[in-house]
Amino acid sequence: APGARVPVLVVGTGYGGSVAALRLAQAGVDVHMIEMGMSWDAPGPDGKIFANTTKPDHRSFWLRTRTKQPLSNFLGFPLDKDIPRHTGILDAEEFSGITVYQGRGVGGGSLVNGGMAVTPRRENFGGVLPSVNAAEMYDVYYPRANAGLGVTDVDPAWWESAACYQYARVGRKHAQRSGFPFVFVPNVYDWDYMKQEAAGAVPKSALDGEVLYGNNYGKKSLQKTYLARARATGKVAISPLHRVTSVAPATGGGYTVVIEQISTAGDITATKTVTADKVFFAAGSVGTSKLLTRLKATGALPRLNNEVGKGWGDNGNVMCGRANHMWDATGKVQSSMPTAGIDNWAAGGAFAEVAPLPTGIETYASLYLSITKNPHRAEFSWNAAAGRTDLSWQTAWKQPSIDAARTIFDKINAKEGTIYRSDFFGGSKIWGDHLTYHPLGGVVLDRATDNYGRLHGHPGLYVIDGSLIPGNASVNPFVTITALAERNIERIIATDL
Ligand code: FDA
Repeated sequence: APGARVPVLVVGTGYGGSVAALRLAQAGVDVHMIEMGMSWDAPGPDGKIFANTTKPDHRSFWLRTRTKQPLSNFLGFPLDKDIPRHTGILDAEEFSGITVYQGRGVGGGSLVNGGMAVTPRRENFGGVLPSVNAAEMYDVYYPRANAGLGVTDVDPAWWESAACYQYARVGRKHAQRSGFPFVFVPNVYDWDYMKQEAAGAVPKSALDGEVLYGNNYGKKSLQKTYLARARATGKVAISPLHRVTSVAPATGGGYTVVIEQISTAGDITATKTVTADKVFFAAGSVGTSKLLTRLKATGALPRLNNEVGKGWGDNGNVMCGRANHMWDATGKVQSSMPTAGIDNWAAGGAFAEVAPLPTGIETYASLYLSITKNPHRAEFSWNAAAGRTDLSWQTAWKQPSIDAARTIFDKINAKEGTIYRSDFFGGSKIWGDHLTYHPLGGVVLDRATDNYGRLHGHPGLYVIDGSLIPGNASVNPFVTITALAERNIERIIATDL
């Protein structure tokens, strides 16, 4: 209720926010979560909650009148189309040098992502979170995160014969023939459900190409894991379609939080103010960084330090496709949940996910999302004249990522006698270098915060999401975001409550 005083307010319901809510509630604390996206619990006009990847509609994008699909073209034809403006599930947030894709709704990125649940190789961890004790992470917090998220491995025998993973087996063959290690990666998808999909026994989800705009059945998003457990405590309230716009010290202690309620057309329908003893920022790397950068610059939180807004990276994301020979068909039905990658991190600075291309037709294409060792880091800054927060990333900064990805794919193309596809990203572009799915950093651990996410200068304010990780996780990031949140909240509950 407006004017109320709450012990803990959590901004955002993605991985970091969900971990914080569950653990605080289990410790007996009442938690209020504020989420700008929708609750995603009611079916749309077609009887399903989420739209299909091949048929984007009003549910698919966050407040856009035209889709902005990561693969913008196919066989040279543009794919984007007009849609009604709506608080849809995928935000393609445009900064001057990069489009950052993010999930919007209760569950954050877990609603839209591919479910790849990867723990970094331990020898790479020092480069990911240098101030964190690796032994504790690998002994306690990574296992806790994997259990909490419901991470499991695909059944290898089934995978070898499943038609929906033909694309991945082609990916393996090509990787291994060029001498690259091919590694299986776990996922949060319910594999038994996927087997039943393949057998035609249940409604299809992964095998209907669902990803990007939500997944109707088999994926264990946070709604089914951490958030379900958090709600079951009876101590967690969630307000969807509410956006936090300001946090400032309150007279008499705690923080005054200003929250806008929005309609599904994106219009502000009410502005509310509550007082919170403690505030956890879990709005994602971009959301938390933008909010704190503005609150520092405008004087609402004057004592934040100069590290706020710095150290942002794109996890080195770059996409590309390869054109296979006719004898290397990748399959009409491709599971939208990836299971494997090509690991050339040590030698070439690239880990390439063998990605699905769930078009429903045979494309003879192999698609890859590479995570690379890109050294560039950008900064957020408050642009008072324009009334927005800018990000200093430049498109040309993707060049090291392209170079790293080429250590894998130039070699595979040479060995196979194949070429890159140039019909996916508009014009004759080979590299999808305009986007990231993995924003990280902006409020880096042990710099803008202490080593557990407590913001410097304002006691009672915490950061607990991907903005703590300094720009690169060496693999897909949500397991690391979850494990770090588990580590930090345990310490905060033990010492600050
Ligand atoms: P996250 O972004 O999940 O949550 C933040 C929440 O805060 C959002 O729900 C947002 O709406 C809300 N919010 C923001 N500002 C707010 C405000 N002012 N007020 C109220 N609410 C606010 N990773 C991986 O490990 N494996 C994978 O397979 C993939 N695949 C993938 C595909 C696609 C298409 C995308 C877009 C992303 C992925 N990812 C991924 C990345 C992964 O989803 C991402 O790293 C995490 O969701 C980030 O978790 P956080 O907790 O940091 O924020």
